[in-house]
Amino acid sequence: MTDNRAPSTITADGFPPGPGGHDPEALRQRALDALLAARARTATLTDSVDDGELTAQHSPLMSPLVWDLAHIGNQEEQWLLRTVGGREALRPEIDGLYDAFEHPRSARPSLPLLAPTEARTYASDVRGRALDILEGAPLHEGGRPLERAGFAFGMIAQHEQQHDETMLITHQLRSGPVALTAPAPPAPTDAGTLPDEVLVPGGPFTMGTSAEPWALDNERPAHRREVAAFHLDTAPVTCGAYRRFIEDGGYTDPRWWAPEGWDMVREHGLNAPLFWHRDAGQWLRRRFGVTEPVPEDEPVLHVSWYEADAYARWAGRRLPTEAEWEKAARHDPATGRSLRYPWGDTDPAPDQANLGQRHLRPARAGAYPAGRAPSGAGQLIGDVWEWTSSDFLPYPGFVAFPYREYSDVFFGPGHKVLRGGSFAVDQVACRGTFRNWDLPVRRQIFSGFRTARDA
Ligand code: AVJ
Ligand code: FE
Repeated sequence: MTDNRAPSTITADGFPPGPGGHDPEALRQRALDALLAARARTATLTDSVDDGELTAQHSPLMSPLVWDLAHIGNQEEQWLLRTVGGREALRPEIDGLYDAFEHPRSARPSLPLLAPTEARTYASDVRGRALDILEGAPLHEGGRPLERAGFAFGMIAQHEQQHDETMLITHQLRSGPVALTAPAPPAPTDAGTLPDEVLVPGGPFTMGTSAEPWALDNERPAHRREVAAFHLDTAPVTCGAYRRFIEDGGYTDPRWWAPEGWDMVREHGLNAPLFWHRDAGQWLRRRFGVTEPVPEDEPVLHVSWYEADAYARWAGRRLPTEAEWEKAARHDPATGRSLRYPWGDTDPAPDQANLGQRHLRPARAGAYPAGRAPSGAGQLIGDVWEWTSSDFLPYPGFVAFPYREYSDVFFGPGHKVLRGGSFAVDQVACRGTFRNWDLPVRRQIFSGFRTARDA
């Protein structure tokens, strides 16, 4: 945000600015495309169920879908209309209802929320005005920090896409007729010949970014990190590998578990990932309303940090640290610099990563050979969010921007970092530097993991 360089200059990270560079007109188009793509996804998620399902609470962990819809509009109103555009509030009386810090998710169904038709109208009224403001906003380098490089517009597109992932989790938790379908992701081409793990040599690398125009506050600034040599799984841990942990008594042996994880297992009687059950000697899972055999070579999904940590210990390994994950994903030994994505600096193409809810499941381990990193690791972006061993902490030099409630209030030992994005997140909210976090007990999210060991 504070970079003040000509469009084609190599930035502090040592990589060129993102596609569109810092050219205001390219960024304006990029912001428009990102806002429209987010709204199309929101429409799919909210038009695929009836009003009764939109206002129902499908799980105490989640908001009613109609809350997410109006919250998306309300955040957009606050940042794009009022803050950037200087407009009067459209509906100041609803701000409190859609403030995530005022009401916990479990309390949201009993609030006087906007009804589905009202919520849709509100979100689209806000959007019409936001696009007017985008058309005239000065996005150049010298402008106000929120407008510079279209940051606020990119932030709001990311916010909507993050809620689109949240809404997809609600879809996964709901019961009832199938509402969403999608084609299968591409099959692996050379899975049989891939090594189980890759070696990432020791040495410093650049973590985080100061140059990516729409990187959020917690990804900043770019800084050097020393990372000792380590081995990392080539692909995320599969359902088949995880099944062997279960069948070896993984959930009944406290040796593998962090103390709080073992408490969780006993309190809730856990014996498998969320949505799995055993029937006539076979493991089945429920996925968006369909019950199907657990696929052996697909990355395991819906495990908590405690389960990932226990599996790794059982396997004689450990979770990677966040810095190890990012080095394996971004460090290019040929040039010594960090890439935007494992495959390079270009935005994700459909043959490089499983993103954007194009497929409603992770691809089998070994898929997306075009998306591999210089380290040789694959499927780092897309498919499943990957738990790391690290607490969610600020980078040295962190500055909360534009509001403390995005990242700052979540820093600390209570939240663990997830990296890489899932099939459910859009590319605007996913990159090599992107950081997600959650409580270590959470398993309704699209979470998996890979394991590491010291070299
Ligand atoms: C970054 C995914 C943890 O959903 O709680 C949405 C994103 N922040 N609205 C969340 C977010 C405010 C956030 N995560
Ligand atoms: Fe939000």
